[in-house]
Amino acid sequence: MSIAPPNKLQAYRASVLHFHADPAFTPDAYSWHEDGLLIVDGDKVHAAGDYATLAPALPEGVTVHDYRGKLIVPGFIDTHLHFPQTDMIASPAPGLLPWLETYTFPTERQFGDHAHGREVAEFFLDELLRCGTTTAMVYCTVHKESVDAFFEASEARNLRMVAGKILMDRHCPEFLCDSAEGGARESEDLIRKWHKRGRSLYAITPRFAPTSSEAQLALAGELAAAYPDTFIQTHVSENHAECDWVRELYPKSRSYLDVYDSHGLMRQRSMFGHCIWLDDADFARMAATGAAAAICPTSNFFLGSGLFDFERADAARVNLSLATDVGGGTSFSMLQTMNEAYKVARLKGSYLPAARMFYLATLGAARSMQLEGSIGSFAPGTEADFIVLDPACTPLLARRTERCANLEELLFVLALLGDDRAVSATFAAGRKVHERLPA
Ligand code: GUN
Ligand code: ZN
Repeated sequence: MSIAPPNKLQAYRASVLHFHADPAFTPDAYSWHEDGLLIVDGDKVHAAGDYATLAPALPEGVTVHDYRGKLIVPGFIDTHLHFPQTDMIASPAPGLLPWLETYTFPTERQFGDHAHGREVAEFFLDELLRCGTTTAMVYCTVHKESVDAFFEASEARNLRMVAGKILMDRHCPEFLCDSAEGGARESEDLIRKWHKRGRSLYAITPRFAPTSSEAQLALAGELAAAYPDTFIQTHVSENHAECDWVRELYPKSRSYLDVYDSHGLMRQRSMFGHCIWLDDADFARMAATGAAAAICPTSNFFLGSGLFDFERADAARVNLSLATDVGGGTSFSMLQTMNEAYKVARLKGSYLPAARMFYLATLGAARSMQLEGSIGSFAPGTEADFIVLDPACTPLLARRTERCANLEELLFVLALLGDDRAVSATFAAGRKVHERLPA
């Protein structure tokens, strides 16, 4: 099924911000148009710039949607979360492994039922769009039905989404166990069915090293080599008990990350969730292979996993992105995720400017996923996924943002105090897919 894009030029007047480089390493990394205009041609970006420059050249009859007082940025990109965990968000447990046993596995059991998966997927996508997230890298469950349910729902809304079936053939309840060969076969069937169909993209998804046999990881690596433009997603070095377990299970590996490396799972388009306890050699390997880190601060605080080390990752020039990790994460909002990422950096003795956080949630994520030509900025010809942020959406935000002296301060206040309420509207491929109703 495909949705026809709006077939004529649409223009949106607001403050417009997007990035063309990482502000941590490049001065003048963004374009900022205080009185700006975003011009969309069907489902693609036509131009972004100053209103005064672009408006006179607009053809006669083009509607200019007036969002003055608001801020348009590219749709947020969440590089790691689990749609089947929507209904168990905020479930307490003393750490990752008991949380998986007690809540996650029983919840994921229900996703062999396609109708259940579809119902949860619809709610999940509503929630993402309410929070301004237009692209996500999504874990389904071990059931192929859960992948069909997810992609059917995202395709019906014409969203740029990445998702995959979990591979898990040991150390899990029998009702969630696949086999090395069966999991690889089902993954390949799903790649053929969904990868690059419309805006859908497939991610080969071994859950994490403890729940996959070496045979399963090897087959996942073979699949990744056979389909080099698919994605790979997994968890690495999240929690001490998990890291100890991996050392026991894979005594010959130099490190946890090396388990994946030695099975052909590190390459461009490999997205590693958490990356908390990596050493310098691991970070160097991430950078050398073009793999990327999905940093999950709300989840890491919630499960008490640890603090991501931005400074060491930056020293190695690793591709970085931010992620909610719902349901380990406690919010669907990338603004709330920035809020917690900022505190992670402070607790590690480093500093994360707001402009960097907005970069990581847009172009930085797109680059990490090798999707820079499609999403993450307003470069002409990219897909028109964008959001309208309201700096005055609550009395407190209105009062505080009125007093902001510059753009960095405005972005910082939005990140620290904002959430779904700050998202006035969300557009995907040029169509409005969410509009916040007045309270
Ligand atoms: N490690 C393996 N599975 C999971 C999961 O579902 N959530 C988190 N946060 N970590 C994991
Ligand atoms: Zn996760």
